[in-house]
Amino acid sequence: MSKLEGEVYYPSKEVVARANVKDYDSLYERSIKDREGFWAEEAEKLEWFKKWDKVLDDSQKPFYKWFVGGKFNIVHNAIDRHLKTWRRNKLALIWEGEPGDLRTFSYHALNREVSSFARILHSMGVRKGDTVTIYMPQIPELAFAMLACAKIGAVHSVVYGGFSVEALAERIADARSRVVVTADGGFRRGKITDLKKTVDEAIKRSPTVESCIVVRRTGHEVYMESGRDFWYHDLQQLPIACPDGQECKTEVMDAEDPLFILYTSGTTGKPKGQVHTHGGYAVYTSTTHRYVFDIKEEDRWWCAADPGWITGHSYIVYGPLINGATVMMYEGAPNYPYPNRWWKMIEKYGITILYTSPTAIRGLMRFGDDWPKRYDLSSLRLLGSVGEPINPEAWRWYYEVIGQKRCPIMDTWWQTETGGFMITPLPITPLKPGSATKPFFGNEVAVVDDEGNEVLVGEEGKLVIKNPWPGMARTIYGDPDRYVQTYWKDYEKQGWYKTGDSARIDKDGYVWIIGRIDDVIKVSGYRLGTAEIESALVSHPAVAEAAAIGLPHELKGNAIHAYVILKQGFTPSPRLEQELKDHVASEVGPIARPEDIQFVESLPKTRSGKIMRRVLKAKALGKDVGDLSTLED
Ligand code: WT7
Repeated sequence: MSKLEGEVYYPSKEVVARANVKDYDSLYERSIKDREGFWAEEAEKLEWFKKWDKVLDDSQKPFYKWFVGGKFNIVHNAIDRHLKTWRRNKLALIWEGEPGDLRTFSYHALNREVSSFARILHSMGVRKGDTVTIYMPQIPELAFAMLACAKIGAVHSVVYGGFSVEALAERIADARSRVVVTADGGFRRGKITDLKKTVDEAIKRSPTVESCIVVRRTGHEVYMESGRDFWYHDLQQLPIACPDGQECKTEVMDAEDPLFILYTSGTTGKPKGQVHTHGGYAVYTSTTHRYVFDIKEEDRWWCAADPGWITGHSYIVYGPLINGATVMMYEGAPNYPYPNRWWKMIEKYGITILYTSPTAIRGLMRFGDDWPKRYDLSSLRLLGSVGEPINPEAWRWYYEVIGQKRCPIMDTWWQTETGGFMITPLPITPLKPGSATKPFFGNEVAVVDDEGNEVLVGEEGKLVIKNPWPGMARTIYGDPDRYVQTYWKDYEKQGWYKTGDSARIDKDGYVWIIGRIDDVIKVSGYRLGTAEIESALVSHPAVAEAAAIGLPHELKGNAIHAYVILKQGFTPSPRLEQELKDHVASEVGPIARPEDIQFVESLPKTRSGKIMRRVLKAKALGKDVGDLSTLED
């Protein structure tokens, strides 16, 4: 290997010896030369009711289809097939609640729980192709509900439990769900989050909803509407069966049938429902999980994300269960009641792989080395990071203090749209802190200008993906035109996927993600649209116009800064600023609360009236504002 430039960390002999892939370059080359052959070989590792006729159908670009003609169900692969082997008795899930309660499930038990949930959904009239909205805290029933939908061929739409009434109602309406699954509440930092109350408000605005299944978690008193709301534990007692008996059958699906919708923030206020499928998504999530995290039978895998986001869908629920792994899930905050909570759980359960976000790492780093040092973290063998670029300082702390210089860090770059890891190291990859390193097998990426010319080595440009991959979102639910416009229009000629990120590639071919260049702000790794924040602001009676931008923040990566023009008759005051922040938090969710609000007289706009956020950003950072030729005045 030629010498790499900059700060480089090479894998140890032990890491290389046990790695599932020993030679990146040759497998990469093969995967590019024969992409379909590579993916077919990976797909063979799963069980198909009927094998596909064609690996990739690209006759209707950019609406690619994978494993066409194949009959498949992701749940058959994540649960059913394991029951025929010794894995039946293996732990599938270890769950710890924030108050300290513990529940564990073998694959056998997982099947029992998922079948029971499936039976109940079926009895509520949920059928193949129907959408079910799931709004839950991080409890095992969240995963059971998702898997139960998939089992009977229904499409789940999970809405993150931190979203507010408005966001939930909008997502229920877009998916036209008749059934909502929720819980009375959840625990977060010792407090109860009143999920059911949010659901009640959202249902008032959602004419499609007929029934609501409520899982009891906190036990606090909640309103239950007779004939509409049902306790899950009551339903479990009813002698109901699927048409084929007590054991609810796993539906035979087409590989391309939708598995779920997951909403991401968009340029306009309306969220985009990303549609993922049974076949390609299963192949992509399980393959990336197996290779990147080098999954072994004896691993205890902990992805400390919320299942309500794509990270949880792909790498708490589907990928790891398909790989027959033991999955750890934790309900609450990392520092509750003390900043030792995570380290204590790693020791207690013997976690071997920890996958989390830079924000969480920075947050825990802040409390100092003593907290982790009091625990035995020697079970860890690999670490992971996702959601935003990781700053080298946090990387080093994670590597030295948590991984004890033994555990390579897999900095995985991907998106809700991509379904799984796109640019990522493997355990054998020499690492550079802050770089997601190289493309995963089958993928070709480039950093280009607006015309599609590759920029010079080390220069910043737009990150594109040049090829289709099995885990890609197939469309935006109900809006295929928007799918084309958003991702494929800019590089239509070349047929490339636009990521919305800027990046640079160094002389060793390592990719360095810089950040979003569209109207998305990543706050603590969470994805928010400027439009959502702005429309929440203008829905306040005092606000005439608003603009939101993201500015660097030590802990959160980026923080939201808003500029507000008040309506006549209102005057700026600290009290009004506070009121507006609270308003955004209650309209969108607490994660969207602006860090700072400035009252202004005007906003920089183009002649066509579009707010030039880049000008606001440059000014706030004291940078050159760049080309102002389109500025109105
Ligand atoms: C955006 C996608 C995919 C799981 C969570 C986020 C940013 C994601 C990295 C990384 C630098 C990253 C990008 C991307 N991002 N991973 N390893 N390094 N940036 O999914 O909410 O759809 O957000 O997150 O900006 O476009 P998402």
